[in-house]
Amino acid sequence: MSEENTNQFDLVVIGAGPGGYVCAIRAAQLGMKVAIIDKRGAPGGTCLNVGCIPSKALLHASEVLQETQHAGDMGISVGAVKVDLEKMMSFKQAGIDGNTQGVTFLLKKNKVEEIHGAARLTAPGALHIDLLDGGQRSLTAKNIVIATGSEVTPLPGIEIDEDRIVSSTGALSLPSIPKHLVIVGAGIIGLELGSVWRRLGAEVTVVEFLDRITPGVDADLAKNFQRVLKKQGIKFMLGKKVTAAKALKASAKVTLAPASGDGAEETLTADRVLIAIGRRPHTDGLGLEAIGVTRDPQGRIETDAHFKTNIDGVFAIGDVIAGPMLAHKAEEEGVAVAEHLAGKPSHVNYHVIPGVIYTAPEVAWVGRSEEQLKEDGVDYVVGKFPFTANGRAKVNGTTEGFVKILADAKTDRVLGVHILGAQAGNLIAEAAMAMEFSASSEDIARTCHAHPTLPEAVKEAALAIEGRALHM
Ligand code: FAD
Ligand code: NAI
Repeated sequence: MSEENTNQFDLVVIGAGPGGYVCAIRAAQLGMKVAIIDKRGAPGGTCLNVGCIPSKALLHASEVLQETQHAGDMGISVGAVKVDLEKMMSFKQAGIDGNTQGVTFLLKKNKVEEIHGAARLTAPGALHIDLLDGGQRSLTAKNIVIATGSEVTPLPGIEIDEDRIVSSTGALSLPSIPKHLVIVGAGIIGLELGSVWRRLGAEVTVVEFLDRITPGVDADLAKNFQRVLKKQGIKFMLGKKVTAAKALKASAKVTLAPASGDGAEETLTADRVLIAIGRRPHTDGLGLEAIGVTRDPQGRIETDAHFKTNIDGVFAIGDVIAGPMLAHKAEEEGVAVAEHLAGKPSHVNYHVIPGVIYTAPEVAWVGRSEEQLKEDGVDYVVGKFPFTANGRAKVNGTTEGFVKILADAKTDRVLGVHILGAQAGNLIAEAAMAMEFSASSEDIARTCHAHPTLPEAVKEAALAIEGRALHM
């Protein structure tokens, strides 16, 4: 093959996260010659390397610890339960490696060329790569998909040293269990990682700017979720803004003030501080200015309905564009753009993107919250069913939480489903499927659900829409 041919592709994807690698695989399945570039040594992006996968490994391990500690309730005696943090971190790393190696295997299997290096657009259809091994390479492509993801939003004036003051990346690899972990931001990262370290024995204080946790999540659900987390020993300081955080030799000092601006400052001493106030699109060094790709005021790459930027042949997907910063949203967009480039119809249904917080119990939702329906002026009915009335939850000892279904008052179409409870992340799949098929609550209510299972609570919540839940 001539050198020109080896550097010429139908599609080059920049960023091998869940958006990018899925896009590359789908495009290759559709017959395109594809290369994917990532500046990390391994594919999988934030999700597999420092996000979804390592956080879930630690959530799982710490949940097993907690279950073991309470095994006596089920008549299982265990000796003193000890945590070997180093081993737990190796367990986490094995999970990461298994997943990233799996992606490399899939890329190879689909004949996608995987290139390790930092890519920069030099012209529409042309890229320059600074290879991780020190070399350089230039490629041309009929189409380019930017899938460069997101990075931690910094808190102005606070230096994240990934030692005393950490981002999620540092919080996934702490060398010891902190005595006191202060978390700035009661969002998804703060509460998932707060749960991990709380279960491992840390005192955890969460400082949140707003007067509620998890903005965007249905307020009823969020209120109950906070109550459950409080019972687990997580402390909340709501309506507070962090004005400074300073790393000292063996601790860190955090200064807070009321979010309103009125009132005295206070200080907290912690041995680690996690800054988790959101993520922002990652476009550094990509050369967007050079070719004139436009971004919105939040720095996200602007695209049309087919993920095309304002420059022909340049597309963008995932965290780097608008929408929820979720791996499965990035994946859907990856498939959609690949199919569009192959001339197939493609579409992402943004009304049905589930969200999950993998705490214990879990929080999961799909569709609109009560607040959003009110804001949109939609007349809706509520069907709610508590896990205390679900047989399986009772025997499992996981009775916290409920299923709430919101349906259109006139048409009965399901508009939103919100779940707090064990395995909510699995339960929400049924709701997403129902909504994708424009189901009514009656459709869910009339579907036979196996007994005894947690999904029966979903059916009962649907029955509750017309006040005919059977076990309540
Ligand atoms: P990314 O996964 O961020 O991948 C982008 C890749 O592009 C990176 O590997 C980066 O190195 C590369 N890159 C950037 N610039 C260049 C360049 N110039 N040249 C070459 N390569 C470049 N989402 C969920 O749905 N479920 C979860 O449970 C979940 N847990 C999370 C936990 C944590 C702690 C964090 C931080 C995030 C979590 N997320 C979760 C969010 C999820 O990780 C992101 O939404 C997802 O990774 C976005 O995918 P992406 O493909 O858009 O980008
Ligand atoms: P987030 O947006 O979920 O939450 C950030 C929180 O910080 C909000 O409650 C916000 O009000 C608060 N905040 C903002 N500025 C503040 C300040 N100065 N002081 C105190 N509080 C402040 O962001 P987070 O937790 O960093 O996560 C980023 C994104 O990563 C998520 O939105 C999600 O898209 C993704 N993610 C998804 C996961 C999942 O699907 N299970 C897990 C982890 C991350």
